[in-house]
Formats: sequence, structure tokens, C-alpha cells
Amino acid sequence: MDNTLHKIGDSLIRNPGLGQLSRRGFIAASAATLASCKAASPLPPSAAVKTPPNKEYRTPSVQGPVPRNQAGNPSSNFSKDAGVTFSRVQVSGNFIAITFDDGPHPQNTPRLLDMLAQRNIKATFYVIGRSVDLHPGVLRRTVAEGHEIGNHSHTHRLLSKLGDAEVRQEMQRCQDAIGRAAGVRPRTMRPPYGGLLQRQRELVHEEFGYPTILWSVDPLDWRRPGPSVVASRILSATTAGGIVLAHDLHSQTVDAMPATLDGLLKRGFKFVTVSQLIAMKTETTAQASVTPAQ
Ligand code: NI
Repeated sequence: MDNTLHKIGDSLIRNPGLGQLSRRGFIAASAATLASCKAASPLPPSAAVKTPPNKEYRTPSVQGPVPRNQAGNPSSNFSKDAGVTFSRVQVSGNFIAITFDDGPHPQNTPRLLDMLAQRNIKATFYVIGRSVDLHPGVLRRTVAEGHEIGNHSHTHRLLSKLGDAEVRQEMQRCQDAIGRAAGVRPRTMRPPYGGLLQRQRELVHEEFGYPTILWSVDPLDWRRPGPSVVASRILSATTAGGIVLAHDLHSQTVDAMPATLDGLLKRGFKFVTVSQLIAMKTETTAQASVTPAQ
């Protein structure tokens, strides 16, 4: 430290311009120099506020016990009459479903699976068929650990711009990839970008049996606002019967999950999969859960 201060003094002598800085400017310049001790010469004041992204950031490992989701495995049998579209489900009880889109990802998904397993949380993964073909082992692990798989199309195109034959192909190819990789068949779908016309929703419901699953909580995590913002957005917007949207494609989203999941559990929410949530739908409010066409 002393040596660094000495160097600052030297540089002031060599760079008389710096001596003309106000006292405040001098402090800023000194701080910049101290923060970048390896710099050969003081940084210009304009560079003082630049902080490079920390690519080495990893979520700290859990210290001690974490809250755990309730034991039990509620039925996931829902009727085809339950509805064509859901953005939330009217249920009695503090049940919610958390969903992760756009995987499987070779690093982020396994990291997320560890976090979910520690807390006995079962989630729903809306996977892209093309990525399933690339990382079938990640999908197999996801299924083996009790999570639900949903269809998120094969190539993640905006389906509302496609004709019926292409929509069918996107659904079928993704369903086939999931079957090949993990031997299961999805029961629900989520359209990429949430874009699917009412007529198309009825088509995939009729032909594939998939209700279209949208969401009630969107933290906009794909914009990468930072893990703490993702967590606080989800915690402040989640209510019973809610469907939370997140993306296991993004490392920041996974970084946000320990605080998010623990916060939701501490608020008394019980995690179930999307199919389980739909199966819990209370009869009297059947119409309320159907979202109007976009
Ligand atoms: Ni997506």
C-alpha cells in the first residue's frame, strides 16, 4: 500500500496535469490507482468508474441447512377439459409452479438441479428440442430427479408467424427429441416468446393434448439484471397459484435461485409441477384461469 502511494506521488510529479485536479478529482484518481495496483501509470479519471464484469463469480455454496419443500407427490392427472391456456391456476392452498425455459444447458442446468435437489423442489423445464439433441444426458438427469418436462418447440421460432404445418412440426420434433433422450412425453407446452394465436393454441391442444402455459411472474431475467434483482422481482410478484417464468439458459438466473427458492419457501409457498398445479384447479373458477387470446 505504501509503495502504491509512493508511486502516485511519483506519477503526480511526472504528470503535472494531474496536480491541477481539484482535491476531489485527486481523490478519485488516487482511488482508481489503488484499485488497479498493476496499472503502470494512473488511469485517466474517465476510466475510474469502470469495473470489469467478474466472470469468476459463483454462487456461494450453501452453509448449513436450507429450507425444504414439503414432502409428497400430488397427482398430476388433469382433464383435457381443464383449459386451453393457463397463466396461473386457481387453487386452494399456497401452491406455485416454477418453470425454467430454453435449456437444457450443459453447465447451468446441472447447477440448478443441485439447488433444487437440496430443497426437495420439483420444477418444470420447457426445453428446446434442438438443445435436447445436443445435451440428452442433462435431460435424462432432469427427468430422473423428478422434474417435469414441457415442450418449448424444436428451434425456438416465433410460432405465431408460422403456418399450421410448421407449428405441428415444431411440436412434434421437440416431443420426439424428449422421448428419444429421456423416454417421457411432455404434457404441456410453452410457446417461445409467449407468442401463439388462439387458433394455434386450440390446434396444439386438440392434436397434442398440450395446454398452452404462459406465466404470472416474469422477472425479465433474460435481460440479465443481476441475481439480486431477479430474486427480488420473483419474491415480490409471486402469489398462490402462480406460475413463475425463469431461464436456466442464463447463469445469472441460476445464481439468483438459492435466495429466490429459500425466500419463497420461507413465505410458505409449496412447489409443484405445472401438471400438478393444473390438476389442483378448483372447479368454481374454471373460466378465470383462461387467458384471452393475444
Ligand atoms: Ni424461450
